[in-house]
Amino acid sequence: MCGISGAALEAGDVGPILYDSLKRLEYRGYDSVGEAAVINGKITIKKDAGKIDEVERKLRISDLRGTVGIGHTRWATHGAPSQENAHPHTDCNGRVAVVHNGIIENFMELKQELEAKGHVLKSRTDTEIVAHLVEENLKLKIGFVEAVRQAAKRLDGAYALAFVCADEPNKIVCVRKESPLVIGVGTKASYLASDIPAFLPRTKSAMLLEDDEMAVLTCDQIRVMKVDSGEEVVRKPFTVEWSVETATKGGFPHFMLKEINEQPLTVRNALRTQPIYLELMASAMNRAKKIFLLACGTSYHACLAAAYVFANLAKIEATPVIASEFIDSYGALIDADTVVLTVSQSGETADTLTAVRGAKDRGATILGLTNVMGSTLTRLSDVYIGQNSGPEMGVAATKTFTAQYSVLIKIAVALAQKRQTMSSKDLERLEGGFDQLPEWISATLSSQNENVRRIVEKNSDKGSFCFLGRGVSVATALEGRLKLLELSYLPAIAYPAGESKHGFISVVEEGYPVLFIAPKDEAYPKIVGNVMEMKARHAHVVSLVEGNDDQIASLSDETIQMPNGIPPPLTPIVFIVPLQLFAYRMAVTKGYDPDFPRNLAKSVTVH
Ligand code: F6R
Repeated sequence: MCGISGAALEAGDVGPILYDSLKRLEYRGYDSVGEAAVINGKITIKKDAGKIDEVERKLRISDLRGTVGIGHTRWATHGAPSQENAHPHTDCNGRVAVVHNGIIENFMELKQELEAKGHVLKSRTDTEIVAHLVEENLKLKIGFVEAVRQAAKRLDGAYALAFVCADEPNKIVCVRKESPLVIGVGTKASYLASDIPAFLPRTKSAMLLEDDEMAVLTCDQIRVMKVDSGEEVVRKPFTVEWSVETATKGGFPHFMLKEINEQPLTVRNALRTQPIYLELMASAMNRAKKIFLLACGTSYHACLAAAYVFANLAKIEATPVIASEFIDSYGALIDADTVVLTVSQSGETADTLTAVRGAKDRGATILGLTNVMGSTLTRLSDVYIGQNSGPEMGVAATKTFTAQYSVLIKIAVALAQKRQTMSSKDLERLEGGFDQLPEWISATLSSQNENVRRIVEKNSDKGSFCFLGRGVSVATALEGRLKLLELSYLPAIAYPAGESKHGFISVVEEGYPVLFIAPKDEAYPKIVGNVMEMKARHAHVVSLVEGNDDQIASLSDETIQMPNGIPPPLTPIVFIVPLQLFAYRMAVTKGYDPDFPRNLAKSVTVH
C-alpha cells in the first residue's frame, strides 16, 4: 500500500500542496517519498528513501515549483527502499513521470519486452515499466492521454497510477483498477489522491474513479473516460461530510475497524505475491531436511495454521515455534540443512530477530515474510517476501494476520506443486477459493457485523471466554482468544477442542461462554461431539458455522453464520473476521480504546 497524490493548479506552486497531501497519506506508507512537476517544459523530480520529514529536510520537496505535479509516499513491495526505487519513475528520456499504488502482475513480461526494444530501466520496481510503455506509445504520435490509455490496457494487476508529461504540461492523467483513487474538484484547481484526507483541507467536493476508468485533470476541467473504449463518462462530484480525522480512518471510528474492513483488499494483495519468490522459498524448503516456522504472537498463529497446510498440501513437516523458545528448545537441531521460515509483521521483533541470528550462526537458511520491506528481518533473510498489507496502525494485528497466512498458503501450494502432492482437482478447488476469498470476507463483514454486536452486548458481563477449534481452526481459536485478551483485558482461554476435556472442562459451569470455530472440514464430526460435551455442562455455546449447518446450530445458543464451501485450508482467513469484530466490539463496549491497548507496543523491540 502506497499513497499517491496530484495537483493541477491555475497559478502558484504544487510543492507545498503535494507535501501537505503526502503527509496526510503517510499512514499508507513511509519508507520513501517523491514528487515530480513540469517546469519550463521539463520534468523535475525530487525523491529519496526515508520518512517524509527526513526527505523534506534533505531535499525541500515542499519547495517544488510548477503548477502541475504528482507525489508519492511508498511502502515498498518490489525493490527495497532506496533513491532509485522511490517514485516518481520516468521513461528513458525523462519526458514522462509516473506514481503508482498497487502491483503490476505482468511486469516481468513487459520488462523483457521493453528491454528487447532498447529501454533501460533504472529501478527494481514494477512501476517503472509503465513510464516506458507510455514512452513507447508516444512514439506513435497519439498524444499523452491516448498513450496512457493504451499502456493501461497492457497492465494486469491492481493499480492507481498518475502521470505527468513534459509534452502536455498542463495535464495529469490518472488510471484506476482495484487500488483506490479519488479526485478533488477545487476552484481553479484539481486534485487526485489515494484517499480523501489528502485534499480535504482544500476541497470537500470529490469524485470517485471506478475500476478501469481514467481521468484527465487540468486546473479547470476533469474528464473521466473508460480505459477499454476511451468513451467519456459523466461523473458528478459529491460533498465529503467527514472531518479530516474521520477521513483518515476511512470513515471508521477506529483504525482497527478500518483495518478489519480492509481485508478483502489486503488478502487479494497478498495473494498477488510474485511466483518467482514463492518458487525460491519452495525450492529452499524442498531441499531442507528440517523446516521451522518462527514467529511471535499473531504471526505465530499464522505459522501454526501454515503447519497444517504444509502437512496437508505439500506433505512436509514444518514445525511452528514461538521465537523466544526457539534456540533453547531446538538450537541443538539447527544446521546447514535447516530452513527457518520467519514471519514478522514489523520485521523488528526482538525475540524473532534473536532467534533468526541464532539460526544463522548455526548455518540455517533464513526465509522472511514481513510487512516492512527494509526491516531488519529482510536484511537477515536469504529470501524475503513483502506481504503488502500497508501500514497497520491498530496495535492489534488484524489485516496482517490474514495476509501472512495467505502468503504462507501460496508458498505451501508452490511446494506441493514441486513435490506433486496435490491433485489437479484439489489445486483447482483451492485456486477457485483464492479468487473467492475477498468476496467471502466482504460477505461476512456485512452479514455478521450486527450479529456480532448483539452477541457482544449479551455477553459483555462475562468474566472469561473460551475459544475451541480442531485442525487448522486451532490457530483461528488461538488468534480469536489473543484479540479478545489483548483488547478487553479478559482472561480468555483457547484450546484444541479435543484437549479441552483434559482439564479445561472443570472450569465450565452454567452460562460460561464457549466459542466454537466449526467449519465443515475433516474435523467436523468430532467437533460436534465437543459442542455436546460443553452443552451437557450448560456452557453458553456460540458457534461459527457454515451457513447450511443445522446440526451445530441446533446445539448452540447463538450462531455466527459463515459462507458455505470455503476450502478447509482457507477457513482461518474468513473465520477469524467475526472474532476480530468480537474483540473490537467487546473493547469498545467496555470503554477501552481498541487501537491502543494498555501495556502493548506495535513492535516489541525488547526481550
Ligand atoms: C497481536 C500482535 C502481537 C504481534 C507480535 C509479533 O495482535 O500484534 O502479538 O503479532 O508482537 O509482531 P511481529 O509480527 O511484528 O513480529
